[in-house]
Formats: sequence, C-alpha cells, structure tokens
Amino acid sequence: MKRILVLFICLLVPVLTYAEDGSGLWLRYKALPETVSKQYLQQLQRIAFDLNSLTRVIAKEELDRAFAGLLGNKPVLNQKIQINSLVIGTLKDRLVKKLVSADSLKLCGEDGFILKSMDYKGGKIILLAANRDIGLYYGIFELIRQMQQEHPLVGLHLTEKPSYSRRILNHWDNLDGTVERGYAGHSIWKWDELPTISPRYIEYARANASIGINGTVLNNVNASPKILSAEYLAKVKVLADQFRPYGIHVYLSVNFSSPKQLGGLPTSDPLDEKVDAWWKKKADEIYALVPDFGGFLVKANSEGLPGPQDFGRTHADGANMLADALAPHGGIVMWRAFVYNPDGDDRAKQAFKEFMPLDGKFRSNVIIQVKNGPVDFQPREPFSPLFGAMKHTTLMAELQITKEYLGFSDHLAYLGPLFEEFLKADTYGEGPGSTVARITDGSVFKEKLTAIAGVANIGEEVNWCGSNFAQANWYVFGRMAWNNSLSSKKIADEWIEQTLSPDPQFVSEVSGMMMQSREAVVNYMTPIGLHHLMGWSHHYGPEPWTDFRGARPDWLPKYYHKADSAGIGFDRSSHGSNAVGQYSEPLRSLYDNPATCPEIYLLWFHHLPWDYRLSNGNKLWEELCYKYSSGVEKVKEFQKTWDHMQGKIDEARFGEIQAKLAIQVKEAIWWRDACLLYFQTFSHQPIPAELDPPVHQLDVLKKQKFNLKNHN
Ligand code: GCU
Repeated sequence: MKRILVLFICLLVPVLTYAEDGSGLWLRYKALPETVSKQYLQQLQRIAFDLNSLTRVIAKEELDRAFAGLLGNKPVLNQKIQINSLVIGTLKDRLVKKLVSADSLKLCGEDGFILKSMDYKGGKIILLAANRDIGLYYGIFELIRQMQQEHPLVGLHLTEKPSYSRRILNHWDNLDGTVERGYAGHSIWKWDELPTISPRYIEYARANASIGINGTVLNNVNASPKILSAEYLAKVKVLADQFRPYGIHVYLSVNFSSPKQLGGLPTSDPLDEKVDAWWKKKADEIYALVPDFGGFLVKANSEGLPGPQDFGRTHADGANMLADALAPHGGIVMWRAFVYNPDGDDRAKQAFKEFMPLDGKFRSNVIIQVKNGPVDFQPREPFSPLFGAMKHTTLMAELQITKEYLGFSDHLAYLGPLFEEFLKADTYGEGPGSTVARITDGSVFKEKLTAIAGVANIGEEVNWCGSNFAQANWYVFGRMAWNNSLSSKKIADEWIEQTLSPDPQFVSEVSGMMMQSREAVVNYMTPIGLHHLMGWSHHYGPEPWTDFRGARPDWLPKYYHKADSAGIGFDRSSHGSNAVGQYSEPLRSLYDNPATCPEIYLLWFHHLPWDYRLSNGNKLWEELCYKYSSGVEKVKEFQKTWDHMQGKIDEARFGEIQAKLAIQVKEAIWWRDACLLYFQTFSHQPIPAELDPPVHQLDVLKKQKFNLKNHN
C-alpha cells in the first residue's frame, strides 16, 4: 500500500524545471555557487530518514528536488547515524531518540521542530526532530531556506514553534470561478473539473507548507449555500484528500440561511430545533467525507448577508449553534466581526458596539475573526479596538493579502510593514506590552485555540498572484503566521534571496524599495490618517468627490474625509463620534488630543483646520501636498532603482516588474492630482511652488471612469 502511495505522489509531482515565469515562487532551487554547494555536500552526505508515511515521502522528495537544484546532487539515504549525515525523525524513530530528549521537543508543540548541528563521534551531524511528521516537513523547508540563503550549517540551532496553531488562507473564490477582490485571474479551484485534479493543487499545497500555512478556506465569505450540497462536498473531499499529506486542513465559508435555501426548511433561526438538527446532520455528512475538516467561516448580518439577527438572535446564538454541530468532530467556527449596520453611527465603531456586549458568551470552539483595522483593509488604519478589549472571547486577526485598496496587483506594495505595524501595536488591553501579537497568540489570555487568517491573492495566472512582487505578500503572511515576531525586513530579504537573486547588492536595494513601498502608497493615496478615498465599488482609483446617491453613505469617500472649508478629517475624538473611547488608556487620551495623536492617524481621529500646524511646522494643507508629492517621488525613485537591476535577474521578470512600476508612477500621479485638486477646492490654498504641479485637470479626472475590465 505504502509503495502505491509513493508512486501516486511521484506521478503527481512533475519534475520541476521552471522557466523564469514566476511559477516557481520562492521554491526555484537555482544552483548555488560552487564554494557553498561543496560545503553543503560535504556536511550532508547521507540522510537517515525512515519514509514510513506519505508526509515523509513528500518531505524527502522536496529534499531531493532542492538538492538537485541547489547542489546538483541527490542525497543518499541510509538508516545509520554517521558523521556528516542529516538525521530526521520523531521520538518514534530509534536513531532520533538517541539524539534528542522528549523535554526539548515539548518546546516545539504539534507543528514545530528542532534543527541543529551536533557533535557526533568527533565530527558533526545535522539533526531535524519534531513531534509529528508535519513538523519534519516544515523543518525540511527551513533547512532548504537556510541553504537557499547560503547560511552556514555549522552552529545552526533552531527550536521552532509556530505562534498560531491555525495559519489559514481565506479564498474569496466563488463557485463560478470568479474571485472577489482577486487580481490574479480566475480561481485556482476548477469546480467544474473536479474530481479531476489540477497539478496546481499540489503546487499550492507545497508552497503553503513551505511557509507553514496549514489551513485553507476554499470559498468566498459571501458564501453560496451550494457549497454544502452533496455535489460540492464530494469535490471538497477531493481537495482535502490532496492537501492532507501537506498538513493543510480544509475549511468552508457557510451561508447562514443554508437550512432554508439548501435544506428547504421554513427558517434558519438558530434557536429552531430543526435548524439545529439540520446543521448537526450536515456536520456529520462533512466529517464522514473529510475527517480532519477544519470548520466554518461565517460572515453573518454583514453587507446584506443573512444571520441570526434576522430572527432577533445574537451573533453568539448563531455562532454557538454552529459550534455545537462541529464540536463532536473537533471543528471550529470562525465568526467574522466585520459588521456595520447603517444605524447612522460611525462605521469604525460598529463591530465593537455589536460584539463587546457578547464578550464571554461564545463556545470555546468559536473564534471571532476580526479585520486588522476597524473599517476595511485600508493602506493604514489603527488596530481594531476589539483586540485587547474582548477579554473572555478568543479572537483571531484577519489580514488582507490581496491588495484590494493598495493598487491591486499593479502597484508595488509589500505588506510586511503593514502586518508588522499591526501585530506590534500595543493595545494596552492588559497593561503595557499587550500587543496584538501577544493578545492573539495566547501569550496574554492563554487560549488554546489560536489562529490568524489572510485573504489570499492567489489565482490561475502563471505567477500565481498577478505580479511577481505580489508573491512576497503571500510569503510574508505565512512567515509571520509562523512567527509573529519576525521582522518584515528579514522576511523581505529572505524572499528576495530565494525568489529573485541572492546577490547582496541586489537584495539590499530591492529590499530597500520593498520596505518603503507601503508607505509610498499611503502617501499618494491616503496620507495623515485619511482613508477610503477610492472609488466606492472598485476600490482602485481616487474618487474623493464621489457622491453617488443610491450607495450607502458609509461606502462613499466623502463620508470619510469630511473635507469642507473649515478643514478635513473624521472627528472620532470625544467631541465627535468618540471612537477613541473604544481604546484603552493611555491610547484613548493620546488619540483624543490632536497634539498627542500620532500624525499617521491624525485625520482618522480628528477634523482639523487647513492651517493646523503639524509638529514639523508645516500647515496641514502644506503637509498634505508634501505627502502626496513624496508618494509620487518615492515611486519614481523605485522605478530608477529597478532600472539598474536590469541584467541582474532574468529578462522576463525584470520586464514584468518594470512595466508594473511604470503603471504605478502614472497612477500615483493620478492619485496625487485627484486628491490635491479636489481638496484644494476647500482649502483655497496654493500647492507649494517647489513641488511638481498637477498634470491633470479636476474636471477631466472626475469624468474619467475607472476601467474595470482590466481589473476583474
Ligand atoms: C470588503 C470588500 C468586500 C468583502 C468584504 C468582506 O467590503 O470590498 O468585497 O466582501 O470586505 O470582508 O466581507
């Protein structure tokens, strides 16, 4: 049986000789310089690894592939500990048991590993030990990462345990193959073709496993009830079977009115016994097909979707009913807090208002999934005040990897600094040091269930993400989900080394660009705390003037910037909507006072006069002009830096990135001109003479319709 499985896997994984089209992601395994490869070959002459499970077979194949590419050689398998060997296994492996104690492996948890160089009989060996086979697979990817970065193996000593037990991608993929807010073509899930398997499923699983991602929600949060039909569950099973050896659990987004819409019941009221029974039966049906099914993700009573409030029930009533159906099977419910009812109050306050009264009312297998900011994945937002405030409910963060509001796949915006800023934000919820990272990873509240989600940027395009640079955002999400204290700079460097080039000069210049890229986008789109100035439906280009009657006011830029002759910004201070009141002290007071509010959030929390003086002495209007211009200048700088990289990587990817940067420069100017010319109609002040003047005319910009055809 084992042999058949091995053969099956071998047939599935094609020999990976990638053209430089981006399809190889960070797993390209290009030959290392001879001096380096010689050393590795000397240190890793043999491998002791008992291939007694499918995951181990896959792990060994990955090693073979990496050795072949990086070193031009295949490791020799022999089941002995010898000098210059790599010894791999768990405590069940006789050889490994001799080398590592159960106590030291306790530090690794279920998924972590120890990877270290050890003295052995007067020489050296490398040990890779874990508690489970999946930990060995992750450890092999770590070893490969070290090698791809040409790090010395002598002195290597890593004890790794992931920050979150569930590290999950959320696909906003619809069953018809379209992807909501997806900018890399159609969905990689070929629902019509399943159970026929696309080779990309395995590539997807490998790529995720290489960065520690262990869960995938297959379908859009705006879920079709059809996903729970027998027909689709059979297809879900096929995908789950594919992903299992790679440590990836499948989850589904569910529509709260499925009992009615799919099951034909007269209601979906969570307190109705028949509804309850319907979900229990559905859970049994799912687990019979997918025994390690992860659970449900639910968007309820949000943006017009059904939910428990339709029946006068609470989010807790809804979530707990689903949790009870999944609990006997070990499943969880990820219940989203992305809610904003049109009650006229500040949208940024609404999730807190709805969820805080329910703190402590959720089952232990419910986790509330909260977007990083209180509004919606803006280029910059303060953290959602729910983090740190809900002390008796488990919370997980939802980050957006796909760049819905940061120029889709067209603009370079490395999201590492955004994720890092968020994870390191101190909520003060349990005193100083209660960072979002520590609140969500179980350090502060000691939760057993810990998780983090990222909305995927993956599609069927050859380079997976719609642009080569966008791959870095998938990568950084996985790496931070694995270790939430890694710096975005370190992750950028390792991504570049593996994906583009290990040349130190190249790495330093390109990493410099990447690290500044998100701030550049903030500056040319929404500086100083401005937000949501993009067109109300596509979220791409600037439309600060939009006054489309018929759309909800809290979808429109004017709602957010509130520019008038007196000034600009949303007054969320204690004199305004008092959103500041949702934060713990000292943040509440700090944010409440424009003099102490961090300038990056100034217009998020305050409506200030055009001649308000900033700490650098500039008037607010001038500062806006400088920020918008600096965003444009920065992108022009990126373009110059990139032009110098010609010849340092393959032409195809060089050209693709160059073309994207050209689009970005053009559109950064579009953003700058649209916002400054429009806000100038209120400020009535000139743009400082030393800055480049606008090249567009406001009337023309207002009439230009964003072409959605190019941006699905
Ligand atoms: C944003 C996004 C929607 C998405 C929603 C959500 O509003 O524009 O497309 O459905 O977030 O997160 O549920």
